[in-house]
Amino acid sequence: MTQDEMKRKVAEAALAYVKPGTIVGVGTGSTANMFIDALAGMKDEILGAVASSDATAERLAGHGIPVLDLNDALTRVDTLSVYIDGADEFDPERNLTKGGGGALTREKIVAAASSQFICIVDESKKVEYLGAFPLPIEVIPMARELVAFEAAKLGGRPVLREGFTTDNGNIIIDVHDLKIYEARKMEDHLNSIPGVVTNGIFSHQGADIVLMGTPAGVVSL
Ligand code: A5P
Repeated sequence: MTQDEMKRKVAEAALAYVKPGTIVGVGTGSTANMFIDALAGMKDEILGAVASSDATAERLAGHGIPVLDLNDALTRVDTLSVYIDGADEFDPERNLTKGGGGALTREKIVAAASSQFICIVDESKKVEYLGAFPLPIEVIPMARELVAFEAAKLGGRPVLREGFTTDNGNIIIDVHDLKIYEARKMEDHLNSIPGVVTNGIFSHQGADIVLMGTPAGVVSL
């Protein structure tokens, strides 16, 4: 089975967590895109979807799935019923690294507004500790050098994502070679640096369930 076939299987398996009559939070990336394609078959059963990026909003709309603004959605319901998204890495505690596509901040916001986070990945994303994948940090441009300096103090190698601007108008610094043994502590520490909007560690907003695609089928962790 190819990596894309594994992604498609987990994307389809995630449909089981979509409850009719609810609003669904939708992530960003190639696996989330496959989920959006599968969700199109349920578009008449849900109230709509909240997107974690402009790209996701566009794909949802292209399928005729109603795209709701998060603030409007939260005047209709207390929480979104479920958030479904991929990840760049996950560890045994279901802490995640996200933001390979640069949408980490909106992804974290929509995840926080949802009752349940179902993470859809293929088995290549499984790690013992986060950090092999360079950690994305969304930064207000003025704070670029400050944040890079602080990340280097932690043993990381900060690299500006050249030519990239987030949907929020900010920059991304990818931090290579960080050893993230304590995901929550690292998430909190990096978020305490002035100018950081958020970083790609999802520990507070970790996954409730990871659906992992393997050649033998989908495993629920
Ligand atoms: C987007 O910013 C990311 O958080 C994605 O969720 C992550 O990069 C996974 O993407 P793929 O499904 O394309 O691997």
